[in-house]
Amino acid sequence: MARIELQQVSKRFGAADAVGPLDLAVESGEFLVLLGPSGCGKTTTMRMIAGLETPSSGRVLFDGQDMAGVPPADRDVAMVFQNYALYPNLTVYENIRFPLRMRKMKRAEQDAAVRAAAARAGLEAELGKRPAALSGGQQQRAALARAIVRRPKLFLMDEPLSNLDARLRVSTRAHIRHVTRDLGATTVYVTHDQAEAMTLADRIVVMHRGRIVQSGSPREIYERPANAFVAGFVGTPAMNLMRGTVRGGVFRGENVQIEGLEAEDGKVILGFRAEDAQLLEEHIGFTGCEIGAPLYETEQLGDAVMVLVPAGDAIISVKAARSFEARPGDQLRIVVPPDACHVFDGETGARRDRMAPATGGWGR
Ligand SMILES: Nc1ncnc2c1ncn2[C@@H]1O[C@H](COP(=O)(O)OP(=O)(O)OP(=O)(O)O)[C@@H](O)[C@H]1O
Ligand SMILES: [Mg+2]
Repeated sequence: MARIELQQVSKRFGAADAVGPLDLAVESGEFLVLLGPSGCGKTTTMRMIAGLETPSSGRVLFDGQDMAGVPPADRDVAMVFQNYALYPNLTVYENIRFPLRMRKMKRAEQDAAVRAAAARAGLEAELGKRPAALSGGQQQRAALARAIVRRPKLFLMDEPLSNLDARLRVSTRAHIRHVTRDLGATTVYVTHDQAEAMTLADRIVVMHRGRIVQSGSPREIYERPANAFVAGFVGTPAMNLMRGTVRGGVFRGENVQIEGLEAEDGKVILGFRAEDAQLLEEHIGFTGCEIGAPLYETEQLGDAVMVLVPAGDAIISVKAARSFEARPGDQLRIVVPPDACHVFDGETGARRDRMAPATGGWGR
């Protein structure tokens, strides 16, 4: 196990600031996900932890020890990267066994470990093949098996599921979670896929433009996003966000009015989640917390129907019962409970409602 600490770590490429400065601690045995859009600095951060990239400033510590000058091979780190980097001349069996050959492990034990890892990765039938003869998904699973078989103290994974089809992604995701927990290994996992982050993480660190914008449990990130960026990035669908003005606790936007908000006057971005709003029956009178708009489209989800309506320049999603039926253009009324609303600053996007900050802290 290992505790990782980044202290004021930054990375510049030429004149461009790619990352930081950022402070981040990953506790021993923790599964931490770095989540953010393309180009926000996730891979660069990961590579600095691995020792593949030298920080422009700051320190990387493993269990309190400064890693400056320690080469990647001496950090006891297993890496699974976007490009799986298998040895092309070795078979799958030999690839998975490769890290074990470096150790004083009996041949029979190596063989058992390789076969167990291959079985977990669903690669028993592929052991004799070379990487070129594998599909992208099989290569990715072979790279995962090679990392897992080492039982390292730290896993670094950079989008390890990106080449898998939807079903394999879900089962491999559970496999990664199970194996890392089983080993008690510290894991730093990079993804731009918020669903992956939500399902895997003990803690999510959201990055934006090289900086950490929020750090918290999946639940905290989902329920109390620190700003409009996080709100619009996490969740399927993302949180509904509308521009408007709050005056005396009443939000007004285009075809929207919501009363009873705990927020100060001013220009804001108002957010709520699709599952927190309800479609109103026709006979119910004005509630004070409504969106009135024509139906734009519906999306069949199987267990529910996603109803899309325009509000200003945004399209709002509302989750309705699967029995819902309407046609594009039909006039709808949607009620949004004020306590389900998130209020963000209209200029900075920072969270602005008066509720107490979530535990776990953000922006650290
Ligand atoms: N070797 C390099 N030389 C110059 N610029 C680089 C280099 N590596 C990364 N960058 C820049 O640093 C920034 C962060 O890149 P990074 O690869 O860390 O992003 P990322 O969050 O992993 O994105 P993605 O999700 O697309 O993989 C980007 O603007 C990128 O262009
Ligand atoms: Mg990357």
